[in-house]
Amino acid sequence: MIEQGSSPEPTEAAVALYRATWGDEPLALASAPGRVNLIGEHTDYNDGFVLPMAIDRRTAVALGPSGGRSPHDGPGLGLVSAGHVGIVHIDGPPWTPRGDGSWANYPAGVIAGVERIRKDAGGDRIPPLRIAVASNVPIGAGLSSSAALEAATATGVLGLVGMDLPRKDVALVCQRAEHEFAGVHCGIMDQMASVMGDIILLDCRSLDVRNVALPDGVSVVILDSGIPRGLTSSAYNERRAQCERGVELIRAHGTDAHAHEVRALRDVTPDMLAGAAACLPETIYRRCRHVVTEDARVIEAADALARRDLGTVGMLLGESHASMRDDYEISLPEIDFLVACAAATPGCYGARLTGAGFGGAVIALVDADQAAVIASDVINRYCARTSRPGSALLVAADEGARVHPIAGG
Ligand code: GLA
Repeated sequence: MIEQGSSPEPTEAAVALYRATWGDEPLALASAPGRVNLIGEHTDYNDGFVLPMAIDRRTAVALGPSGGRSPHDGPGLGLVSAGHVGIVHIDGPPWTPRGDGSWANYPAGVIAGVERIRKDAGGDRIPPLRIAVASNVPIGAGLSSSAALEAATATGVLGLVGMDLPRKDVALVCQRAEHEFAGVHCGIMDQMASVMGDIILLDCRSLDVRNVALPDGVSVVILDSGIPRGLTSSAYNERRAQCERGVELIRAHGTDAHAHEVRALRDVTPDMLAGAAACLPETIYRRCRHVVTEDARVIEAADALARRDLGTVGMLLGESHASMRDDYEISLPEIDFLVACAAATPGCYGARLTGAGFGGAVIALVDADQAAVIASDVINRYCARTSRPGSALLVAADEGARVHPIAGG
């Protein structure tokens, strides 16, 4: 199956859901995109570099105060989603996560974060709210549907209460919601990608961004393996812990003169890593090698895109995938097959696993004229070989989180 474009329009769907649920008009409307990562995997929580692209699949949030005017208003937050049945209530303020792992924890965590900043500045609590959500970001495919929900909620709440925050701070509020309300210790890539939009070369230490564009005639195809990935799974946190252990060992035993100054794998050069190899357990060494080499590939890929050197970009995508497969061990045989199939198809410059891994999607950089043909050819071969429900998505870069006027309000 190949999907293209972004209908139905989530902003209209969110407003319609709000009206249908509470019989009233929302006072604010915002949306934010999902993202795909072109290159730079598991580098963000190592203070490194990433190259994500916000995609034309968005989550929209319609909001208004919950004044007890409707029989459906509870004492705290009332949340509905086009993707879930029923209203979810979260008591407060103060806002705390529900213990059932509900999707509503993401927006609630964002509201708690905005409220914290508002109170620190001497402002009031965020009043109880109604929130209606609609989205066309595929869930569970590694396209950051949760970051899109967080960024849309943050943008909508800030609009509703008339607060202005720098975009980086909005992304940090969203990341903290993910840590504290969803229990996922993610890096900052997804939230920055969704808030900023377009394609960015992001320095995950300073949060400085540089805009990057795809050369004309080149587009991105997302090849979903149909294997859902669980970010909360222990494997993600285990990789993080292995990187931190690597940093400790390099600081303590590295032979390089600057080894004791290392704060994160971002500070480790290939030479420094080679000098510390003897004091690192083999698995930790390979995890570190992935991150150190991946950081270098991100910078090289951004430069190669700028000079339209697609041969080099394609080669770097292939190297990135091999490094994730062999050193970071986050791929699966089905994903390796999908990557190999795509990379061997005429008109494809390169392909790699994208996102946290252990399932999810592959991105392929392709000749735009042939994108649909390449996508269906690769997915047909993948489905025939694996019997998995693979699918493809043709995507374009899109703008970051924003507020919208409410039509017909
Ligand atoms: C997930 C996390 C990100 C990042 C990627 C891997 O998407 O949310 O912070 O670590 O995995 O690159």
